[in-house]
Amino acid sequence: MIYILNSDSLFHLATRRTSYVLGIYKKRWLSHYYWGLGIEPDSHAMEFVPAEPSAYEVTDDNTDKSFSLNRVPLEYPYGLAGDFRSPAFEAFSAGRAVLDLSVASWRVYAGRPELPGLPCACVNGAADVQTLEFTLADSLTSFEAILSYSVFEEADLIARNTTIRNTGSSPLDILSAYSFSVDLQLPGSGADRENLELLSLHGAWARERSIVRQAVKAGRVEIESVRGISGHFTSPNCAVVRPDTTERSGEAWAFALVYSGDWRIACERNEEGNYRIQGGLNPSTFAWCLEPGGSFVCPEALLTYSNEGLSGMSRNFHTMVLKHILPVAWASRPRPILINNWEATYFNFDEEKLLSIAKKAKELGVELFVVDDGWFGKRNDDSTSLGDWTIDEAKLPGGLSALADKVRGLGLLFGLWVEPEMVSPDSDLYRAHPDWCLHMEGRPRSESRNQLILDLTREEVRDEIVRRIVSVLSICRADYVKWDMNRPFSHAGSALLPPNDFYRRMYQKEIRHRYALGLYDIMRRITRALPDVLFEGCAGGGGRMDMGVLQYMPQYWTSDNTDAFARLAIQYGTSLFFPPVVMGNHVSAVPNHQTLRSTPIKARSLVAMSGNLGYELDPTRFSDEESQEIKSANAWYKAHRELIQFGRFLRLASPFEGNYSSWIFVSGDKRKALVFWFRVLSKVNHGRESILLNGLEENILYVVAIDGKPVRELSGSELMRRGLPLSPSRGDGEALCFELSAKD
Ligand code: DGJ
Repeated sequence: MIYILNSDSLFHLATRRTSYVLGIYKKRWLSHYYWGLGIEPDSHAMEFVPAEPSAYEVTDDNTDKSFSLNRVPLEYPYGLAGDFRSPAFEAFSAGRAVLDLSVASWRVYAGRPELPGLPCACVNGAADVQTLEFTLADSLTSFEAILSYSVFEEADLIARNTTIRNTGSSPLDILSAYSFSVDLQLPGSGADRENLELLSLHGAWARERSIVRQAVKAGRVEIESVRGISGHFTSPNCAVVRPDTTERSGEAWAFALVYSGDWRIACERNEEGNYRIQGGLNPSTFAWCLEPGGSFVCPEALLTYSNEGLSGMSRNFHTMVLKHILPVAWASRPRPILINNWEATYFNFDEEKLLSIAKKAKELGVELFVVDDGWFGKRNDDSTSLGDWTIDEAKLPGGLSALADKVRGLGLLFGLWVEPEMVSPDSDLYRAHPDWCLHMEGRPRSESRNQLILDLTREEVRDEIVRRIVSVLSICRADYVKWDMNRPFSHAGSALLPPNDFYRRMYQKEIRHRYALGLYDIMRRITRALPDVLFEGCAGGGGRMDMGVLQYMPQYWTSDNTDAFARLAIQYGTSLFFPPVVMGNHVSAVPNHQTLRSTPIKARSLVAMSGNLGYELDPTRFSDEESQEIKSANAWYKAHRELIQFGRFLRLASPFEGNYSSWIFVSGDKRKALVFWFRVLSKVNHGRESILLNGLEENILYVVAIDGKPVRELSGSELMRRGLPLSPSRGDGEALCFELSAKD
């Protein structure tokens, strides 16, 4: 709900539990007054009183020297005019810097705006979504910024958007433009408000999304990607937290960009001890030349606050992803158990091998068979054929549709791997169109994994990709597609450059964002052309797992690392922002191909079942005992997947803090729950252990069962305060699952 107060100068954005309050300060600046736990909407008197300006500050208005812009909490700050904190944008209009932004008008409306060409949270029938929109204008130049705040009440979340308009008759040069900027105004003095930490996700290929907390004591801490994808190395999601914020209590102000290209989020502690957090397109790889009358839309930013620790923050993001980010058709549709042949065969397979895997998988209860890389062109290794999406007859002589029919004949769905954005230098596509890849005249066409990136800024390239991919997926009537992307950007220029030198340079910096727009264009066209197909995103594992891709692809290959112990940390970190249903998790063979570690099958199963279950191994090699175990695991998963995929997920014990990991899935009515518990290394003489549960109903008496057998009855309050007693066996890689159901 949006309340307009104080003669149209105070704006209160109220969600179920939180308030975000803005004011028009001195009838001019859009200012930030409050963001935190909900306050009464009739707090009309709320005002902002800036601290006295100190010596060595400037005033924007020489007739009023009582304040300095440097002390005003701004919602879209400009630099070089007395605010010495970092600006939200930098732009020049006909050579003049934009150095002023005052509120020109505002309006409130039901629903939310469309973002042309970009993914964004969708209303999806929610009646309570409302938007507050401000137009900020510069008195001297033709620059306008439209800031909109769409309130998603139930998720306790605000989607912020910024659109820049050129109202003049000459081009506007935008050198940077963040999606959001917030000057937190925390209560208290000294350490109460000056010791915030930035919590972000850090990693690498096969080690995605480790949780990192760092104190922001002075200056700026920045997290970013300049790799053309949102990244393995960091993720465009983060939170600012208090030092005492834990999983279960404390405050978190959290941010997620709905974007898949280069990005930056910065947290700055200023001289007053206040924090400015801002983020969006990465200024180091972005610039834009906006034609007269044109608009530039920044990617969407999702903002949420929780005073219930990180679990409250995750609840808000999980609700948002399920209700407003994922494609509606898949938002609540149970996901099939799949098997993928990648780690079973790599490039070395033929039809007989694939069908033997599929047949055995079917016997074990698997529902979908996926042919990974190597089915097309002459692709016996990663050096060739990307772009030539035609079947390799040497491997699959009957063709793709014949294989798909045989797989379907076994009673399985059929899925296919593609990497639409890429071209191998050794391919017919490249030989026919050598200028279709991103490259810079006179520079090396730098390869990674022997491949180049197709220039998605060009319409004819996008059209051809859409034509080829839709055609091949239609031929085999694919039920599922794994959309991979296996390299970062380098020497990323386009043959489609304007002639003039200055704009040539500008255009080079436009390319990465233009690529992201091109990517969304082909994702939109391909997924719309094949509305019943389940798409899974992938970028060498979780290299582009972000809110943007999830709008088109309702699940994501979380990591190429399938080792159960490594996955505990990867999946735990990922769950901070994403619900388990979007995580593709596979049981793989031992020793694991990435870590060379052997882990027990039960641990591998329970880790993979903590989300979207799949297999990535050769099941024909299972012993009878293993086959039996996998068969029962699949039957159990099918019986519980509704709860795992769509229940509430809460973290209980962190792999980043020690030897144990645990989490719980709780049904909407809290009458059912599943607790998963893992211990990496066995401990001897470890005393009595238990796990404190969370998210249950205090008054419900729960029957606790292991392997379907009731072992005890305990109330929700006892389980959440005294804990659930554990009696693990000895041995490394112990994994337990408890089923809780309300006693009638
Ligand atoms: C990288 C992916 O993450 C893997 O799962 C696999 O699909 C390979 N690419 C295939 O080249």
